[in-house]
Amino acid sequence: MGDVSGERCAVVTGGAGAIGGVLVRALLDQGASVTVVDNLSSGRLENVGTANAHPKFRFVQADLRDAASIDASFRGATEIWHLAANPDIRRGTAEPKLDLEFGTIATFHVLEAARRHEVGWIGFSSSSVVYGLPTVFPTPEEYGPLLPQSQYGAHKLASEAMISAFCHSYGMTGTIYRFANIIGPGMTHGVIYDFLKKLERDPTRLEVLGDGRQAKSYLWTADCVSGLLLGREKARRPIDVFNLGTETQVSAGEIARKVVAACGGSARIEMTGGERGWIGDIPRQLLSTQKIRALGWTPRLGSEQAVDQAIATLQAELGPH
Ligand SMILES: NC(=O)c1ccc[n+]([C@@H]2O[C@H](COP(=O)([O-])OP(=O)(O)OC[C@H]3O[C@@H](n4cnc5c(N)ncnc54)[C@H](O)[C@@H]3O)[C@@H](O)[C@H]2O)c1
Repeated sequence: MGDVSGERCAVVTGGAGAIGGVLVRALLDQGASVTVVDNLSSGRLENVGTANAHPKFRFVQADLRDAASIDASFRGATEIWHLAANPDIRRGTAEPKLDLEFGTIATFHVLEAARRHEVGWIGFSSSSVVYGLPTVFPTPEEYGPLLPQSQYGAHKLASEAMISAFCHSYGMTGTIYRFANIIGPGMTHGVIYDFLKKLERDPTRLEVLGDGRQAKSYLWTADCVSGLLLGREKARRPIDVFNLGTETQVSAGEIARKVVAACGGSARIEMTGGERGWIGDIPRQLLSTQKIRALGWTPRLGSEQAVDQAIATLQAELGPH
């Protein structure tokens, strides 16, 4: 049953991802021992940085779709941060089974391991897309009905529902975090990454999916992680839900202009048109963060500052064009 010494033993699934890597370092800084379970499908071990050499850090390369291969990693854990998932909404639309396997089934295997090893707490990285096309802005946690528009969103919601059922049935505590767009170092997907990659392939033009007016909120990874840790500290039984985002937005067109300017300013911006960029795209996203702010959380960067910083960071990571 958990760890009898009183030491915090965290398992971070997806800990080699862009958000996971920052979380891992923060947990080690808090004195926890950390086991990362990751199959490196979209993550990289470099994302954990210096944590890799930390005496309390352990990396297990395993796939959550295979329950038998992950079970032993959860023995002795006192908390689980379940971040592993397919991060690409469009890929989930093209391959409808993907989010079932990487989302719902993977989450079920994590929950079963948590139950078997009597782990007391699980935190889950859900998404704003569970709200579907909300009619209330900023959208609060109590908004409903929850009718996601994408496979990715459907399986985030299914995972939330299973976590709730496990917490009510087996005495564990769950904290669900619904993220806005999280941006920062080490990203391998998302609008800024996509724009930089497109300009790398063709520096003369930048295609923007949709009319460019899609407006969303962006949160810097380190701010997201400070919200995760506060949610854990204030966790209430059996389950709680927190939005994590900024209460400001940036449009896709504005991000395109910023990326083009950062890359020399000569590319022509071409909008494909239409309110949505792709099937499952949510044209307007703005989460209410009053609930977590009331506990003392404040993001350091607003959406526009986070976007500017992410462009500079990813540009440096991807190298000169
Ligand atoms: N970045 C965002 O804007 C955003 C927004 C909403 C929700 N989220 C969620 O936050 C979490 C982290 O996202 P991220 O941006 O850091 O993505 P990421 O791709 O960088 O991290 C995901 C990690 O999970 C690992 N992984 C995936 N499937 C796995 C499996 N079957 N077994 C083991 N490991 C597996 C990947 O290798 C990767 O290291 C994900 O659950 C994502 O859905 C992210």
